[in-house]
Amino acid sequence: SNRIMLGPLVAAIDQGTSSTRFLVFNSKTAELLSHHQVEIKQSFPKEGWVEEDPKEILQSVYECMDRTCEKLTQLNIDISNIKAIGVTNQRETTIVWDKETGEPLYNAIVWLDLRTQSTVERLISKTPGRNKNHLKHKTGLPISTYFSAVKLKWLMDNVEEVHRAVVSKRAMFGTVDSWIIWCLTGGRSGGVHCTDVTNASRTMLFNIHTLDWDPELCKYFDIPMEILPKVRSSSEIYGLMKSGALNGIPISGCLGDQSAALVGQMCFQDGQAKNTYGTGCFLLRNTGAKPVMSDHGLLTTVAYKLGRDKPACYALEGSVAIAGAVVRWLQDNLGIIRTPEELEKMAASVGTSYGCYFVPAFSGLYAPYWEPSARGIICGLTQFTNRKHVAFAALEAVCFQTREILDAMNQDSGIPLSQLQVDGGMTSNRLLMQLQADILCIPVVKPSMPETTALGAAMAAGSAEGVSVWSLRPEDLSEVTSEKFEPQINPEESEFRYARWKKAVEKSKNWET
Ligand code: G3P
Repeated sequence: SNRIMLGPLVAAIDQGTSSTRFLVFNSKTAELLSHHQVEIKQSFPKEGWVEEDPKEILQSVYECMDRTCEKLTQLNIDISNIKAIGVTNQRETTIVWDKETGEPLYNAIVWLDLRTQSTVERLISKTPGRNKNHLKHKTGLPISTYFSAVKLKWLMDNVEEVHRAVVSKRAMFGTVDSWIIWCLTGGRSGGVHCTDVTNASRTMLFNIHTLDWDPELCKYFDIPMEILPKVRSSSEIYGLMKSGALNGIPISGCLGDQSAALVGQMCFQDGQAKNTYGTGCFLLRNTGAKPVMSDHGLLTTVAYKLGRDKPACYALEGSVAIAGAVVRWLQDNLGIIRTPEELEKMAASVGTSYGCYFVPAFSGLYAPYWEPSARGIICGLTQFTNRKHVAFAALEAVCFQTREILDAMNQDSGIPLSQLQVDGGMTSNRLLMQLQADILCIPVVKPSMPETTALGAAMAAGSAEGVSVWSLRPEDLSEVTSEKFEPQINPEESEFRYARWKKAVEKSKNWET
């Protein structure tokens, strides 16, 4: 081997909405050594419904692990150097399985799914003053289709197998992290049924102040507490791998993907923020040891708790449901592009939308509006408009949505962000990055290593008590290089387009009521 001084390695499973990845990092330099990625099928069995197959998710994890281990062996890297594995995942997506057979009892209901819209509207209408923030003091969240509790309730009320398994005490509920960890640590023969505080904080059953499942919330949603996983910190040994090439390796990190990206971007200080462009788009700002409640439609969420005896840190979050998903929609549903790269080329060739605005409210509107009844629109069309303008408008929509949550964030905290740290798949689109800087009127800063989410999970796993191969002290972390995009248009132009966007958003609201 020509590799010298290879320190202990740490791996991460990154199970996102659109794909699964397995990545292996050098714990001394944070260098990414090898990885493998597999796409995940989404099914849309009815309008507004979004499902994935939990067994396919699990298979994709195994496949990514196997392929990455093969690649490492080809690189002459001994996989026995892997000392720990972290898990990071799409949040809120809800799975119920049978602990005796190990089989899922229904497909995973994906966070984007809208089937609970009428339940949500009924719950809100029963609160005093029709207040969607009725449970916010405990959960940090508005009552919405987004979070797990209503999805789980739907499964118990509508799927006979789930209902029967709950009654006969065979049911286990989990978000994707719990499902993966339970399976990898042995499944029906001794699997560990757990989650971490960040994932738990997205269920609406979790009290973000006491860091425990909340009996009152469980009663409110009719959820029996015995089906819930045990809540642990984001960095501790949960259990050991029970099969495959990495048999015996501890799983010692677990974070929802947006929290993991915050850690991977090293936003450990109060006031530091990052925006991740995945299927959706999520801007999180660290608020330190105290949960800050938003007055501008943002969520309060647990950012991380990096060790059993460490304090929890909180974040304000602006969630946008559709970012990368609009690219996939242009590709799969409209067929106007074959690859995401084609979208960048097409949009760049026109350089403007010519007054076309695209509000991709496919799953209603998330932050700052929380309007489940909104639906997507493309407006401002003339005879002149062509697919290139629509392509441009789609990219611009991602930037406008980020501008809305950045504005809300600045208003809530009173201290405007002077630049935006970004990451995620879409950040390889240079046109998007430039547009984002133009629309925010502040610089956008992108790290050279784009896999920040996986890095965060690896950091949590590598620094866990009993593993301790990764230091989280900023002074021990190697310099990360980054690229900066400066705003290039004048602020008046930017404001004009943003005002038009807001008009388009108004048109998308109250569609499906
Ligand atoms: O809350 C949903 C979020 O965790 C999904 O992330 O990266 O799959 O868009 P992503």
